[in-house]
Amino acid sequence: MRWRIRHFDRLESTSQTAKDFPVNSVIIADSQSGGRGRYGRTWESPKGNLYVSVVLTDYGYQTPLLAFVVGVSVAEALSDFDVCLKWPNDVLKDGKKLAGILLERTDDGRVIAGIGVNVASHPTRNMMYETASLEGRISVDETADRVLMSLDKMLCLFETDGFLPIYRLWMDRATGVGGPVTVRLPNRQMQGIFKELSPDGALVLELPDKTIQKITAGDVFLI
Ligand code: BTN
Repeated sequence: MRWRIRHFDRLESTSQTAKDFPVNSVIIADSQSGGRGRYGRTWESPKGNLYVSVVLTDYGYQTPLLAFVVGVSVAEALSDFDVCLKWPNDVLKDGKKLAGILLERTDDGRVIAGIGVNVASHPTRNMMYETASLEGRISVDETADRVLMSLDKMLCLFETDGFLPIYRLWMDRATGVGGPVTVRLPNRQMQGIFKELSPDGALVLELPDKTIQKITAGDVFLI
């Protein structure tokens, strides 16, 4: 594997610490005091779950596709648990969020992929979505090994064969494609049919008036 792994007891955020490390570094913490989620949300980070951030290189115009590469990697790593993917890269178990992924770019072009997996517990309060955990059926270390091995494999696939194989793996595990969804953006929300994943990773939404809108960011809720 390409990874150089560093393990900490407790950090504010593994993704913050990862910014100080070169490409292929992996930062793991047993717990976080300021875990970050998408859109500035908090990611509850008690001991017992996996908090890992991986420093990735810049893939130029293909960098946004890393959202799918990382999502597919986590879903494949946890395939024993019958997980699926909700656009762009939430990993769900029984329709509830099991793992979240936060991609951030550094000023010098590296990409920090922060991954949180609810291994032993999941938050139960103040969530805008339902959550699940692996109920401690595997250890945090085993979860980390599987995720990192899978990420290495999927990055190799992406680097050699491009996005198509990742697109196919994402589609194999996707939930919600072809059905009605609500897309929540920071300042508005839309309802429509999730027609397909476009080759550039956008969600293709058919609105009630049959016009097509390409969504590149936002929260998706299956209706
Ligand atoms: C989401 O909102 O779905 C993304 C959650 C990402 C959480 C992980 S935990 C490891 C890394 N460190 C952080 O502070 N956030 C990410």
